[in-house]
Amino acid sequence: MLKICCIGAGYVGGPTMAIVAYKCPDIQVAVVDISSSRIAAWNSSSLPVFEPGLDDIVMSCRGRNLFFSTDVEKHVADADIIFVSVNTPTKRQGLGAGKAADLTYWESAARLIADVSTSDKIVVEKSTVPVKTAEAIERILTHNSNGVRFQILSNPEFLAEGTAINDLLHPDRVLIGGRSTPEGQAAVNTLVSVYAHWVPADRIISMGLWSAEISKLAANAFLAQRISSINAMSALCEATSADVTQVAYAVGKDSRVGHRFLNASVGYGGSCFQKDILNLVYICECNGLTEVANYWKQVVQLNDYQKSRFVKRIVSSMFNTVAQKKMAILGFAFKKDTGDTRETPAIDVCQGLLRDNAHLSIYDPQVTEEQIRHDLDMDNPDETHGRSKQINIVSDVYEATEGAHGVCIMTEWDEFKTLDYERIFKHMQHPSFIFDGRNVIDADRLRKIGFIVYSIGKPL
Ligand code: NAD
Ligand code: UGA
Repeated sequence: MLKICCIGAGYVGGPTMAIVAYKCPDIQVAVVDISSSRIAAWNSSSLPVFEPGLDDIVMSCRGRNLFFSTDVEKHVADADIIFVSVNTPTKRQGLGAGKAADLTYWESAARLIADVSTSDKIVVEKSTVPVKTAEAIERILTHNSNGVRFQILSNPEFLAEGTAINDLLHPDRVLIGGRSTPEGQAAVNTLVSVYAHWVPADRIISMGLWSAEISKLAANAFLAQRISSINAMSALCEATSADVTQVAYAVGKDSRVGHRFLNASVGYGGSCFQKDILNLVYICECNGLTEVANYWKQVVQLNDYQKSRFVKRIVSSMFNTVAQKKMAILGFAFKKDTGDTRETPAIDVCQGLLRDNAHLSIYDPQVTEEQIRHDLDMDNPDETHGRSKQINIVSDVYEATEGAHGVCIMTEWDEFKTLDYERIFKHMQHPSFIFDGRNVIDADRLRKIGFIVYSIGKPL
């Protein structure tokens, strides 16, 4: 029986390996992590990742051919294929701080693989990494190998949170990068045979290692660029009384452009777009490609502009002050159908409103109070700004909006489309403002109720 071990039981490692185990009953899959609380949650009835459809898949194969464990060494030593799906955040200090990818976790995983391996292994880069990481990893592995042979493959992941299960079951493509040597190609074929259990052959693409590594960064950069492009247009639409939804529809009708990923918003969030573009910028700079670096940097700068523009619009619409005013924040996750708050624009907007002394009442159907407290630094004992007193986290949307001067929609949760807005209007202060950062509500209907509605990229 082929044995797979995945190092890193996070948003990618957990769901990805659950699908491998589900689709390949002939393969034994172990997902390992240094975080014992995360592993305990994967082994419980309350999984650490909220993802539609995930629970059923995990329950159907956990204990059969899917195992979650903190015994990293044992499972790595036993495995034929090792996926490395650890976090690769932006470096906080030292050379490249604020841009380069921090490969500390990757390197420690590679050193552990080298230390405990006594049989040949295929090591698969699942994390998003800078181009040529495979070369660095190869060096670590071969210098400490004691005669064991390693083949490194790049197999970047393209799933999006909230739709991860569908993305994994029906991927647009599976990318496998490997060396062109006979050993490298044999390793590629082994990994192809895993995916071939459920992915059609024409969707499994093999290529060189460096192309596969760059393709992942390029894909995220192109996606984020689309959002920054439509968000740039949203500012122009507001200045000229055009409607960005109509503009996006017209532009997307061109089959060369396509209609997906053209929703104007308060800005993109999530753990990857910003970090991967900054990483791309850093790689370009290291290669002396200043103009290319500046081109991609602008995608991130436009996203920052969009978030601060949103806050300015709120404050200026509410008579230039939100001080002591209750603002309801509806949604805190970076997108719907996830409890993930990494780089969520809600953090920037809340901080902007707090700086203007607003009082916030925050509601999200999936994000825990503990997470919001952490993201807004509410439990910091050294907190000098004393802002935690201005924040209330509630579990009922009507409690959040009661007595509020304004409502800010930060996440496109479906439930926000069908709230009882007549009831909300009755219980709010008047004039009652709604700032829709996701363009999910029917602005005309709400205006008829009496709200003053601000939507992204639309006339007032
Ligand atoms: P995550 O933070 O949710 O999970 C990473 C896990 O790795 C953590 O649980 C951590 O404890 C564990 N870990 C770190 N070092 C370890 C070690 N040495 N040994 C064992 N466990 C270790 O991260 P994620 O969101 O799953 O992302 C992982 C990678 O996948 C990143 O490179 C990211 O860019 C990429 N990616 C993420 C997504 C996404 O939607 N989140 C999609 C595609 C690609
Ligand atoms: C994104 C990519 O879509 C995945 O292919 C990739 O694997 C992943 O990053 C990664 O590398 O981590 P994810 O961040 O989970 O996935 O979610 P997206 O659906 O891409 O949304 C990202 C952000 O953009 C969200 O805040 C979303 O609300 C925003 N967005 C998306 C818009 O503002 N407008 C759009 O039209 C689409």
